[in-house]
Amino acid sequence: MFRNIALIAASALTLTAGGALAAGEEAHVEDVAFAHEGPFGKFDQFQLQRGLQVFTEVCAGCHGLKYVPIRTLSDEGGPGLPEDQVRAYAKQFTVTDKETGEDREGLPTDNFPANTGAGAPDLSLMAKARAGFHGPYGTGLSQLVNGMGGPEYIYSILTGYTGETKEEFGSTFYENHAFPGGWIAMGPPLSDGQVTYADGHDNSTHHMAEDVASFLMWAAEPKLMDRKEAGFVSVIFLLILSTLLYLTNKRIWAGIKGKKHA
Ligand code: HEC
Repeated sequence: MFRNIALIAASALTLTAGGALAAGEEAHVEDVAFAHEGPFGKFDQFQLQRGLQVFTEVCAGCHGLKYVPIRTLSDEGGPGLPEDQVRAYAKQFTVTDKETGEDREGLPTDNFPANTGAGAPDLSLMAKARAGFHGPYGTGLSQLVNGMGGPEYIYSILTGYTGETKEEFGSTFYENHAFPGGWIAMGPPLSDGQVTYADGHDNSTHHMAEDVASFLMWAAEPKLMDRKEAGFVSVIFLLILSTLLYLTNKRIWAGIKGKKHA
C-alpha cells in the first residue's frame, strides 16, 4: 500500500512540475529561490526590512498598501522592527482621523496609505493575486515546494523591461517580458543603486527587486510561517495516528488472521 501511495505522490509531483514549466514559458516569469519558500522556509527579516525601504522610497510614490496595518512591521516572523521605529515610520503619514475628521500624524494602528493618483493598483494583495508560474492550481504540492510564484512575478516585472517603449492613446507603454500582453503602463521603477541600504547590502536592480517582492509576499501573507508550522504539526500528528491505527488494526485481527493460516 505504501508503495502505491509513494508512486501516486511521485507522479503528482512530476505532473505539477511539468505544468509549471509549460506555463512559465509564455509568461517569462523567473524562478527565484526566496527564503520563505519550501516546507521549512522562513521570511528573511533583513530582506523584509530592505524591501520595506524600497517600497517606501520608490513604489509608494504611486502604489498604495492600504490593507496592511503599520503595526505589523514589528511582528515576529515579519520585518521585526522595534516599536519606536514603527511609531517613527507611521509618523511620516498624514491621516484623516475617522472620529474627529481632522488630519493628524499617522499611528502604528493605522494602515499604510492608499494611493490611486497614478492609476497604479494597490499592492497589498498583489503577491497572491498574481500566480506567477506555480499558480494556485494543482495539488498544492508544487506550491509547498516552490512557493506560489506571486513574488517571482513581481520580481520578473521589475526586471523584465526590454527598454522598448511605444505611444498609444496618448500614454507611454513599456515593453516587459513578464507582463501579460508584453506592454505595461508602469515605467521601469528601479535602476541600479537607486536605494542606499543602511546595511550596505548589494543594491543592484535585481537585488532590490527580490527584496521588495519578498516584502510584498509578507504583506499579502504575513502568517505564512505560522500556517506552515501548523500544517507541519498536523502532518506529524496524522502520521503518528495512522501508525497507531495500523498497529491496533493488526492486533485486533491477529487472532483471526492467524487461524486462517494455521
Ligand atoms: C511612477 C509610478 C509608479 C511607480 C514608482 C511604481 N509603479 Fe508599479 N505600476 C504603476 C502603474 C501605472 C501600474 C499599472 C500598469 C498597467 O496596468 O499597465 C503599475 C503596475 C504594477 C504592478 C502590477 C502588474 C499587474 O500584474 O497588474 C506591479 C506588481 C507593480 N506595479 C509593482 C511595483 C513595485 C514593486 C514598485 C516599486 C519598486 C512600483 N510598482 C513602482 C506605476 C508605478
